[in-house]
Amino acid sequence: MAINKVLVIGAGQMGGGIAQVMATAGLTTYLNDVDISIVNKRIEFIAGLLTKDVAKNKITEEKKSEILTNLIPSDTLNNAADCDLVVEAIVENMKVKESVFGELDKITKPSCILATNTSSLPITEIAAATKRPDKVIGMHFMNPVPVMKLVEVIRGIATTDETYAAIKELSLKLGKSPVEVRDFPGFVSNRVLQMMINEAIYCVYEGIATPEDIDTVMKLGMNHPMGPLQLADFIGLDTILSIMNIMHEGYGDSKYRPCPLLRQYVKAGWVGKKAGKGFYDYK
Ligand code: CAA
Ligand code: NAD
Repeated sequence: MAINKVLVIGAGQMGGGIAQVMATAGLTTYLNDVDISIVNKRIEFIAGLLTKDVAKNKITEEKKSEILTNLIPSDTLNNAADCDLVVEAIVENMKVKESVFGELDKITKPSCILATNTSSLPITEIAAATKRPDKVIGMHFMNPVPVMKLVEVIRGIATTDETYAAIKELSLKLGKSPVEVRDFPGFVSNRVLQMMINEAIYCVYEGIATPEDIDTVMKLGMNHPMGPLQLADFIGLDTILSIMNIMHEGYGDSKYRPCPLLRQYVKAGWVGKKAGKGFYDYK
């Protein structure tokens, strides 16, 4: 099925990136958040990235204008009414996602696919909040979205081949490499990545080394582009704690327990780069 018009919910770092790549691929793209000022700020950020791309001769000034024309600020989910696809990228919380999917089910046309960018939550459970579980799917982009090539595509128990094929085709159109993953907490990406990050946080907690030294070990020793604590700040410690809790509960295995220091940082509001403080200071 043709996907020409999309609504992305959540104008945070992920929703902004997803909207950017959709608009770049020529799709009419609404970007929605609870407050229009958040959307406008994110579109300004995207415009800044595009200006840098023009300066680097990666895109033309005309392409920049075309991308920005394709991006439409939205302050109401009613804009989803004539969309072929909705991609949800809001907080990693099942209750909030269920409520949004229930609402979207009523607003959107019957053929509309409802995708979630969840990092770890069961697609089958999100789909159960709708009357169209056959059209609900996980479309898990990586951060930063315009740079990272992977999209994990996760089918819920009722997702049809047709829905899967449409999302796979769209991922390719966006210049991404889709990989199909089964619907288990954390999928593959976060089941592997967050265990490393949580262990790095334990190294800080137990005083084994400083955050800088832990990151240096992984950058120089393992050739990682970012150390695990720098990456944790980049992803958002609130998101990481949610993912660890979801895997801990979902598998019932103590190996997924979040480090107490991670809990403490989140309670303090030190959730990383977006808050100005995490394992590093960004002020
Ligand atoms: N948006 C768009 N483009 C960005 C960007 C952003 N937020 N941040 C960096 N870039 C672009 C830069 O413009 C630059 O482009 P050019 O090559 O055209 O110049 C390119 O990325 C490289 O950037 P920099 O030179 O500034 O910095 P770098 O070489 O250190 O690369 C990085 C930055 C790509 C983020 C790199 O550090 C990296 O790959 N880090 C690891 C990222 C990662 O692991 N992501 C996955 C996180 S887990 C996840 O997403 C799943 C989940 O559910 C939590
Ligand atoms: P973020 O905190 O940067 O942004 C979330 C945005 O959603 C905020 O702007 C918030 O105002 C908005 N929002 C919350 N409730 C809303 C609602 N009901 N309607 C509209 N907007 C609402 O978070 P993020 O890092 O962009 O993560 C978003 C989702 O993507 C989460 O499910 C997360 O697990 C997933 N994810 C995150 C990463 C990452 O590296 N941060 C990577 C892949 C997937």
